[in-house]
Amino acid sequence: MNKIQKVVFCLLIGFSMSMLLNANPLIAQTAMTNVASRHTTSLNGMWPVMIDPTDVGEWRQVWKEPVAVRKTDFFEYSFEGATLLRVPGDFNTQMPELTYLEGTVWYKKAFTCEKKTGKRLFIHFGAVNYVADVYLNGRKTGSHEGGFTPFQFDITDQVKNGENNLVVKVNNKRLKNGIPGVGYDWFNYGGITRDVNLIETNDSYIDDYFIQLKKHSLNEVGAWVKIKGSHLSQQVSILIPELGIHINTMSNNDGLARLQFKSGFKLWSPSSPKLYKVIVQSETDTVTEEIGFRSIETKGPKILLNGKHVFLKGVNIHEENPIKAAKALSDSDALQLLTWAKELGCNLVRLAHYPHNEYMVRMAEKMGIMVWDEIPVYQHIEFSTPGVSGKMSTMLQEMIKRDRNRCGVIIWSLANETYTTTPGRDKALIDISKECRQLDSTRLITTVTCNQGYENNNVNVWDPIFNYYDIISVNEYIGWYAPWQGKPEATTWKLVNYDKPVILSEFGGEALYGSKVGPTDEANSWSEEYQEQIYKDQTEMFKNVPNLAGLCPWILADFRSLSRLQPVYQKGWNRKGLLSDKGEKKKAWFVMKKYYENIK
Ligand code: GCU
Repeated sequence: MNKIQKVVFCLLIGFSMSMLLNANPLIAQTAMTNVASRHTTSLNGMWPVMIDPTDVGEWRQVWKEPVAVRKTDFFEYSFEGATLLRVPGDFNTQMPELTYLEGTVWYKKAFTCEKKTGKRLFIHFGAVNYVADVYLNGRKTGSHEGGFTPFQFDITDQVKNGENNLVVKVNNKRLKNGIPGVGYDWFNYGGITRDVNLIETNDSYIDDYFIQLKKHSLNEVGAWVKIKGSHLSQQVSILIPELGIHINTMSNNDGLARLQFKSGFKLWSPSSPKLYKVIVQSETDTVTEEIGFRSIETKGPKILLNGKHVFLKGVNIHEENPIKAAKALSDSDALQLLTWAKELGCNLVRLAHYPHNEYMVRMAEKMGIMVWDEIPVYQHIEFSTPGVSGKMSTMLQEMIKRDRNRCGVIIWSLANETYTTTPGRDKALIDISKECRQLDSTRLITTVTCNQGYENNNVNVWDPIFNYYDIISVNEYIGWYAPWQGKPEATTWKLVNYDKPVILSEFGGEALYGSKVGPTDEANSWSEEYQEQIYKDQTEMFKNVPNLAGLCPWILADFRSLSRLQPVYQKGWNRKGLLSDKGEKKKAWFVMKKYYENIK
């Protein structure tokens, strides 16, 4: 065997050994709830990275960070002197050459740590798009798939005193069996897109809790608290000082404590988004929260908030700050987007099509805006491929665990624009609807369809899946993708025997702000006037929609999508915003705002 063959042979042995060693790396844990109230050390900042478009870092085992010992040693990779990227942040907008990258970027973060007896240490990620492989001190810690939900690893046994080296391989390649799959109409921002924290807890800690009103109740809370660690059976308390509430109980041998209590809550609503300071205590841990109490239910075709009929005046939002043309990730991004929504007259935001960052959900709750949370089960999902429903279930658990105490969240949406004709779809959506009700029976669930018939100016809504959901959500683009087949005010709707609320979860059309080219009554003018007319016609048609309980125009602001190729009007942007990418109000904005003003 000559020298080169020997080198290749050793590398191959090394590679397969490492694959063997890490054959079943730890799958990420669902993250503990309410990280903000924990003992955290932020790892946010500028991280050295290696951009690896040809994906050689894996077989080079870059996470091992070898150092040259012998004079002949050299390594064709290192984080020393490497480019720096901001965390949290998408990598695509931080360097022009990364704009269209769908591939691998290796991130490194060194941190110092002092190991303490009786303490646990976790590494927590708010989200990483899409697959994250995490290494600590040269060894694989674990992996996570899914770009929009938090995850953590318990690194107590892997961390060492002093300097520690964390390496994260991030890959945002689209996967056929991914959630979402390969085709979706938003920008595939890759990277460590949300906060990264070290979390120190006592050996036994409060991992999760649920403190909300029981279904159909305006004053009775059905709560539980989950302890994790070695000492599971403990005294557990919930305190709400403002209401003089101090409830105690013992957790069982699985660490689960159930508590229930009554009180005269000032109920949370858009007009008075009341939140209470809530303290969750165990013998070894204390977590403080701000929680509101409200009931949400349906009664036939109506949606009731705190027992009263409410019409959902919604708008769709992507997790993007159009003015920065980058991923939205901060409190100020959330404030910008939600302030626009409030200005439009909304009492609800549909966070499309994936769980947005926690700042967004908590800010909405504070501002009195109800939230529609959704997992990215989007259009063409390989439902019948082994492992796919498991991924859906994991994303659902991660979303609900993070947001279940947010009273602002009233709807869990489990899919968008899937088709009863797709193999395995019906079973997958039935199964996940049942799982969702088990995880949280207090909120409404929906799934969004767009396979209604539209003939002879009649819309026929039929999808067997709606039998398993509380709300019928329909996307319709009459006036844009589907030209009107008659007068909008004469458009009829038929719901096949569903006495359930209907939400038009998407409608609208495109316009480039200020575009004045060509006759404005032609779609190809991309003019504000054409979009405005679509909204005028739609609001005419709404009178005919049975059980109409809510609306969500598509979309608050223009957003980036590389599938939008029209070189003059789109340039990689979906222009269906009511606002331009600079926050300028298009004519249609005023039609929608006026329509919402008239709904009391
Ligand atoms: C679909 C889809 C959106 C998409 C929109 C559009 O209905 O749900 O994600 O952006 O249509 O075509 O603009």
